[in-house]
Amino acid sequence: MDNILDFAKNLIKYSYRDNAIGVDMTLGRGNDTIFLQSICKHVYSFDIQKEAIDYCRKIIDNSNVTLINDSHENIDKYINLEVDYVMYNLGYLPKGDKSITTKSFSTIASLMKVINLLKINGIITIGIYTGHDNGSEAGDIKSYLKTLDQKKYNVLEYKFINRVNNSPYLIAIERIK
Ligand SMILES: C[S@@+](CC[C@H](N)C(=O)[O-])C[C@H]1O[C@@H](n2cnc3c(N)ncnc32)[C@H](O)[C@@H]1O
Repeated sequence: MDNILDFAKNLIKYSYRDNAIGVDMTLGRGNDTIFLQSICKHVYSFDIQKEAIDYCRKIIDNSNVTLINDSHENIDKYINLEVDYVMYNLGYLPKGDKSITTKSFSTIASLMKVINLLKINGIITIGIYTGHDNGSEAGDIKSYLKTLDQKKYNVLEYKFINRVNNSPYLIAIERIK
């Protein structure tokens, strides 16, 4: 079975379409951006930390990516077109400052905005690691996502239920109408 990161990528690959627009809501060390670049015409990538932006500017091909040093909750300042794929990986910057993490309030604010930009059959994936805040961000996000109209969105949880110690899991949202 796929780990959560591969499962997220496979969901997106499965719905491949030409000229897609991707958004990486949590750039970090750029792994999701590099994946999205490989299948999208253009990718917009957000991170509140300049360290992440500077790191990725050096290691990624900048030809089809816009790196944005701002919180993803301000997405409407930068993107006013429909998008195909959106990826989140919550938590802190790998090998960075562990005190700077994603937070319920801004994550949900950004979700509310980006959901309105999602094309029909577009996909949002959210990699969730409950270790950094004992699961409160994950709980808040799930409470919000449970309110989405099932006629318009599929919301899936992919989780290894027999793993102990804060096993990471994935939430995926597909707009169906
Ligand atoms: C777990 S890391 C992402 C890992 C990344 N996808 C990768 O491939 O390395 C989470 C990132 O989210 C960033 N972040 C935290 N709050 C944010 C916010 N409000 N807007 C955008 N990025 C944020 C952190 O700075 C951190 O780099």
